[in-house]
Amino acid sequence: MIIPLKLGADSYDITLERGALKKAADIFKIKGKVLVVTDSGVPEAYSRCVAEQFSDSFIFTFPEGEESKNFDTYKAICEKLLEFSFTRSDAVIAVGGGVTGDMAGFAAATYMRGIAFYNIPTTVLSQVDSSIGGKTAIDLGNVKNIIGAFHQPRGVIIDPEVLSTLSERQIKNGLAESIKMGMCFDKELFDLFRDDAYMKNIDRIIELSLLIKKRVVEEDEKEAGLRKSLNFGHTIGHGIEGAVFGELLHGECVALGIPPMCGEVIKEEVRAVLKNVGLPLTYPFAKSRAEEIMSHDKKSRGDKISVVRCDEIGSFYFDEMTTEAIMNLI
Ligand code: GLY
Repeated sequence: MIIPLKLGADSYDITLERGALKKAADIFKIKGKVLVVTDSGVPEAYSRCVAEQFSDSFIFTFPEGEESKNFDTYKAICEKLLEFSFTRSDAVIAVGGGVTGDMAGFAAATYMRGIAFYNIPTTVLSQVDSSIGGKTAIDLGNVKNIIGAFHQPRGVIIDPEVLSTLSERQIKNGLAESIKMGMCFDKELFDLFRDDAYMKNIDRIIELSLLIKKRVVEEDEKEAGLRKSLNFGHTIGHGIEGAVFGELLHGECVALGIPPMCGEVIKEEVRAVLKNVGLPLTYPFAKSRAEEIMSHDKKSRGDKISVVRCDEIGSFYFDEMTTEAIMNLI
């Protein structure tokens, strides 16, 4: 299935198809050199499979994990591009999860003021959310995604077959982002998680999530309004993520950030769905540290933080709250 993302001159196709990894060259039709950027947590077979389809290709692998999302890794990717004499006729392909896509995308956005970028996400989280929409970034200290650029990929391949090598924890981690999208936009998507056997619907979950992401990005590419809705669960989630120092994955922190932002009427059914998927509902973390990180959150406006709230499945609204009021909801 091809899902076209319409952004004028920056439009591109998302190819959602089992086995599409093996057809990357046919789908992307890249003429120049290719640098495949991947990380050590991604099976080598995936990056090799992609690189081997191009006559002039290189692979750059960096250590997996959020700790790599920094200036050193960014510099190392740019140095590789320079070493192999990449020009604006050449391209970067990310093969990996959100960190890899963000890193490779940011290098592509800035090397020679921007070269072509393609994304082949290999985690649920990146397939349903982060690979689409052109957000690229690196972290600075413990502030996530604070240095970055909007740089749309020229094409994205989503091959659900690559998820077979992912751990159960990583799968659930990514599903938190789909639950978030279902809650704000699509009851049908949310309802798929009520069933214990939600994994049998994984292709449909990915498809419905992509259709939401497409709609949101087409309407608000640069996050001036509607796209902020995708931050649902992230205000508290980011605070917790900073407070637990890597003990919990991003989606797990988002899952913890969702119930406090729900109206009383839906709170229990939302908690039941999160539990059904195996996402955490309680976790001890330093509240004061989470509060401190939240107040540095880039969505801060004066002494208030803009948050996304949900009182009815399939809808959302924006609110402005003090960190104190947010902490009281936890
Ligand atoms: N992951 C949220 C966004 O792309 O805006």
